[in-house]
Amino acid sequence: MGSKVGEFRKKLKIVDVKGGPNEGLDRVGLMIVVAGWVRTLRAQSSVTFIEVNDGSCLSNMQCVMTSDAEGYDQVKSGLITTGASIWIQGNVVPSQGSKQKVELKVNKIVLVGKSDPSYPIQKKRVSREFLRTKAHLRPRTNTFGAVARVRNALAYATHKFFQENGFIWISSPIITASDCEGAGEQFCVTTLIPSSREAAESPVDAIPKTKDGLIDWSQVYTFGPTFRAENSNTSRHLAEFWMIEPELAFADLKDDMACATAYLQYVVRYILDNCKEDMDFFNTWIEKGIIDRLSTVAERDFVQLSYTDAIELLIKAKKKFEFLVKWGCDLQSEHERYLTEEAFGGCPVIVSDYPKEIKAFYMRQNDDGRTVAAMDMLVPRIGELIGGSQREERLEYLEGRLDELKLNRDSYWWYLDLRHYGSVPHAGFGLGFERLVQFATGVENIRDAIPFPRTPGSVEF
Ligand code: 4AD
Ligand code: MG
Repeated sequence: MGSKVGEFRKKLKIVDVKGGPNEGLDRVGLMIVVAGWVRTLRAQSSVTFIEVNDGSCLSNMQCVMTSDAEGYDQVKSGLITTGASIWIQGNVVPSQGSKQKVELKVNKIVLVGKSDPSYPIQKKRVSREFLRTKAHLRPRTNTFGAVARVRNALAYATHKFFQENGFIWISSPIITASDCEGAGEQFCVTTLIPSSREAAESPVDAIPKTKDGLIDWSQVYTFGPTFRAENSNTSRHLAEFWMIEPELAFADLKDDMACATAYLQYVVRYILDNCKEDMDFFNTWIEKGIIDRLSTVAERDFVQLSYTDAIELLIKAKKKFEFLVKWGCDLQSEHERYLTEEAFGGCPVIVSDYPKEIKAFYMRQNDDGRTVAAMDMLVPRIGELIGGSQREERLEYLEGRLDELKLNRDSYWWYLDLRHYGSVPHAGFGLGFERLVQFATGVENIRDAIPFPRTPGSVEF
């Protein structure tokens, strides 16, 4: 009884055919199979053109069919319509058209799943708002297909960057009983030692080392879902989003800023190099000039200035802000965007050393007694993309701060424990992944940067 499980074989995708440097010409003469969804079907007197997309790339496979193809009757009878899923076998031939180098001369077509005429995603352009109500179907549009692929590439590049730089990916918990960021938001700051209860007995070799046996100061990161209960209905806030949080041991705020900058430049460069077709699409249809904007980000030195200097600059700015600018107040989105878009001409800006009152308890106190070693990276169009800090590694300062904020020391016993046993200067940051997707694709609303957005009061799908 029983038989062997079949071998897994990767299926040929349209991107495998058309995505190469000569756009498929190297496959001319080959018989291939493509499976995907009909984007459009044009029947002329002697030939029918079917544009098929399988989600692997922006381009469709143009399939050309004459009446002698097997299965033609289904085309003739009108069964195959936009939105239907089909299987096609055919020969790769040079294309007569100017839009593509190759097309498929159909031998055989099979209708896999027919599409009801009420299919909502027809060729005519529909609004983003409308598509949000069809989130289960919108990846079949050019825009959302491209956003999904670039989001995937950004996630891949994220792991690649951290893995190449000596970090270890850990899965931090989401449910926590203690307040971390203030305002009741729940968060868990990652630490050097994965199991804090066992901190005292952790073997020395649990600490990551470089090839040369030196302690590796870059340590762990997490990339996972995050929930925020704040009632923010803006184009940059979600109730459920993804955050990338690296944590660096033996590191200060300068190391933190350098890591954040290197990371952002790496992932931006990665998508410019690896998602050319999708980036060209965004450049033409979503945000004109995005490729230049991102190329500049990948190459230029980022600007860094203190919160105090930023406030001074904003006060002197010849611009009327809705929110008052005053030392001690948190920066609003309009201030953040002014700094990066206007004051520094589109260059990402890192603002550091914020008043301690507006930042979380765990941030390291500066010698001035009024600011902490925090940093926010601000980028054009988005404002705050990254928030991070050097952490308070000194037990007495941390305890003092907890007391000042009337936070219960017992709730933070393990966090304090880490200052008892081999405390080190350390720093980290959090990057909102959907904001990065917005920044990298030009989509204006964060609800379009994640497949099924969750916002206050909305849990569709
Ligand atoms: O600045 P935040 O609140 O920092 C933290 O949560 C720290 N624990 C990070 C750390 O030091 N490990 O959030 C970090 C980033 C923000 O800069 C923003 O990009 C994003 O997370 N973010 C949101 N993205 C979408 N929707 C929301 N409601 C967000 N809140 C924050
Ligand atoms: Mg923040």
